[in-house]
Amino acid sequence: MPEQQIDLKKRRLLTNATSVVGAVGAGFVAWPFLSTWNPSAKAKAAGAPVDVDISKLEPGQLVRVLYRKKPVWIFKRDKQTLAALKSLDAELEDPNSSGNSKQQQPKYITENYRSLKAEVAVIVGVCTHLGCSPTYRPELGAADLGGESWKGGFYCPCHGSKFDLAGRVYSGAPAPTNLEIPKYHFVSDALIRIGVSPDSHEVTPIFKSNKLT
Ligand code: FES
Repeated sequence: MPEQQIDLKKRRLLTNATSVVGAVGAGFVAWPFLSTWNPSAKAKAAGAPVDVDISKLEPGQLVRVLYRKKPVWIFKRDKQTLAALKSLDAELEDPNSSGNSKQQQPKYITENYRSLKAEVAVIVGVCTHLGCSPTYRPELGAADLGGESWKGGFYCPCHGSKFDLAGRVYSGAPAPTNLEIPKYHFVSDALIRIGVSPDSHEVTPIFKSNKLT
């Protein structure tokens, strides 16, 4: 390959790497897409559950996996974040998910953290306005998102909807409801299965695919 082409290739690689680092808030590490114990392509197309190993996930870190062609975010919340979530009700459209957002989460998700375990969030990363994927903005007091009042959350770049770190939409945003919480459960402390409820007895394609292939 001519030298000039190699240089161009290198430069592109460097630019891409810088963009990824630049998109991540200081002190936080986001992994673009986690390598999961994914089922086969055939099983995925049929909506197979996806298992995610969170044993190495640190507070503040967020991983994304694809489930039914949608990004699902999994991230850990520390005590400070959980305390902040409790203080936001007055600023949110439907803080208890009892109004418009009732259908946005499984029935067994009942408390304000919108999760099975307070410290681990599992949220579908698709804006409920027109379907863009909001950006993870966990940093407290982000100047461009309201300064001191910003307790961390997600910002949708398409039309400006803001969500907190439980996926609850702020009042006045174009998004009509909180973000969706998918069906999921903990297989163990370190393993989440997305797509299956805790009490489900579903025979899932993830197991079938192993036998069939
Ligand atoms: S798609 Fe997110 S605000 Fe419009």
